[in-house]
Amino acid sequence: MTENSGGYQADPFVARLYDQVVPYRERPDIDFFVDTAKESGGPVLEVGCGTGRILLPTARAGIPITGLDLSEHMLAVCRGELAKEPEEVQNRVNLIRGDMRDFSLPERFSLVTTPFRPFQHLLTVEDQISCLVNIHRHLAPGGKPILDIFNPSLTHLTKDNLGEEVDLEPEFTTPEGITVRRCNKTVSRDLFNQINQVELIYYLTHPDGREERLVHAFSMRYLFRFEAEHLLSHCGFEVEDVYADYQKNPLGSTYPGELIFLAKAV
Ligand SMILES: C[S@@+](CC[C@H](N)C(=O)[O-])C[C@H]1O[C@@H](n2cnc3c(N)ncnc32)[C@H](O)[C@@H]1O
Repeated sequence: MTENSGGYQADPFVARLYDQVVPYRERPDIDFFVDTAKESGGPVLEVGCGTGRILLPTARAGIPITGLDLSEHMLAVCRGELAKEPEEVQNRVNLIRGDMRDFSLPERFSLVTTPFRPFQHLLTVEDQISCLVNIHRHLAPGGKPILDIFNPSLTHLTKDNLGEEVDLEPEFTTPEGITVRRCNKTVSRDLFNQINQVELIYYLTHPDGREERLVHAFSMRYLFRFEAEHLLSHCGFEVEDVYADYQKNPLGSTYPGELIFLAKAV
């Protein structure tokens, strides 16, 4: 098994900047995950919890939640943010460093979530199955998983822009006064194994004028709708709903949209 966390473990800068990156900060998925956690009654396991973007609001909403992540840097940021919360919120959270392909916890959960695509850092079918089988094992009777991945855009997959730095995002400034511009680059597309190699390139300007270029490099495997459904079925799940967005609009209502599966263990 390769040590692969989608580049979040390679360099601490990604974790340091993560909560300030505009598309992450403004991602419209928090209410969806918090509401589903409340409906489940908890406890919740968030696989690939990162800095706690979803985990912290879930705990604030009164739901006990365990966060599992492979990146010590992401978990360190999460621990730092958790320490600022009231004691009753802190007491609802358990953070664990672990690999979603191979973890074993004593608790069973009513909901297991994978917000913002950590599952797509698994690059082989073998790893995907290991993860889903592990999730299945950690569900309480009647428990449900949510698989949150993107719907691959055929237009994007056939675009002739390999190696181009694309600059689409608003700049942001950190509390230390560092201005950050971020570009993204598709380095390669393996259309047969469904793996895109991507770089997120951060251009920093420090308060003293010093400039820095930092690269978050990672690979992501995309899955098509029925492939994901077959995979879930293979691992003992039945899909109950597939949404195109976090407002629960059905798949097909927008293109490409997300691929959000709500399933149950059978
Ligand atoms: C895009 S972030 C999502 C974080 C968080 N769920 C959110 O919504 O902001 C992906 C996370 O998955 C984690 N990750 C990647 N591969 C992993 C693995 N094999 N096991 C556990 N976590 C992993 C990364 O460290 C990173 O924190």
